[in-house]
Amino acid sequence: MTTTTGRMKTGAVTDEFDHAAGSYDRLVDANPGYHRDLRTSVRRLRLPNEGEGLRLLDLGCGTGASTAALVEAAPRARILAVDASRGMLDAARAKPWPDRVAFHQARAETLSPAWVNERLGGPADAVFAAYLLRNVPEPDALLEALTSVLRPGGRVALHEYSVADSRGAQAVWTGVCWGVIIPSGRLLTGRSDLFRYLWRSVLEFDGADTVLGRMRAAGLASVARAPLPGWQYGITHTFLGARPGGTW
Ligand SMILES: C[S@@+](CC[C@H](N)C(=O)[O-])C[C@H]1O[C@@H](n2cnc3c(N)ncnc32)[C@H](O)[C@@H]1O
Repeated sequence: MTTTTGRMKTGAVTDEFDHAAGSYDRLVDANPGYHRDLRTSVRRLRLPNEGEGLRLLDLGCGTGASTAALVEAAPRARILAVDASRGMLDAARAKPWPDRVAFHQARAETLSPAWVNERLGGPADAVFAAYLLRNVPEPDALLEALTSVLRPGGRVALHEYSVADSRGAQAVWTGVCWGVIIPSGRLLTGRSDLFRYLWRSVLEFDGADTVLGRMRAAGLASVARAPLPGWQYGITHTFLGARPGGTW
């Protein structure tokens, strides 16, 4: 089933990621800050003891760039990485991973506590989702689902673009997209649909305050945002929150 998000159907978003899977890593490797920024957002989860005894979820894991950032910060944690695109998951699975990392195909907004308990052995201590929230048709459903699979006190970090609150950020984003991302994406993949979708979907996406409001409405507490450095300052953010009730 497909539903409309912006001008692209959500089933088509997954199809586009299927098509881009073979070149996705080359694309993100061409962005010098991509992996560094994912690692920064993961560090903001403040995972203790190299993740010993922790259960972590990486939602919208793609080819595993965000999963790799989690493995680096928490090499002892059990990690369940989830994505809707078979092509992206195949690319992720083709890489070497520690035994504690598993990949599953699912739409993140359909996750339930029972599904996660079965695959992870209990509720998640933390959820990471990089560049996912903007791509789902029902962001509130996603936030509710991810809150429901967290243990009380469990933490969430959403790594995402948001420019709606700043005209300056919108102008920089449009300049970088049409000057760099769309032409280099076309060169590397032979098509530009996904990159034009990226540009437009970021412009159409929520402002940062709206994201924080959605997180609160989903039942998350201590919500906050933190910027990423460089040209992405004010464009890419880490949105942080926690399920109320427990401690670490
Ligand atoms: C831009 S990629 C990000 C991949 C990875 N997190 C990273 O940081 O490189 C977004 C990913 O979200 C996935 N995705 C989109 N909608 C999804 C959904 N509803 N549930 C799960 N994954 C989804 C896409 O297939 C794609 O792999």
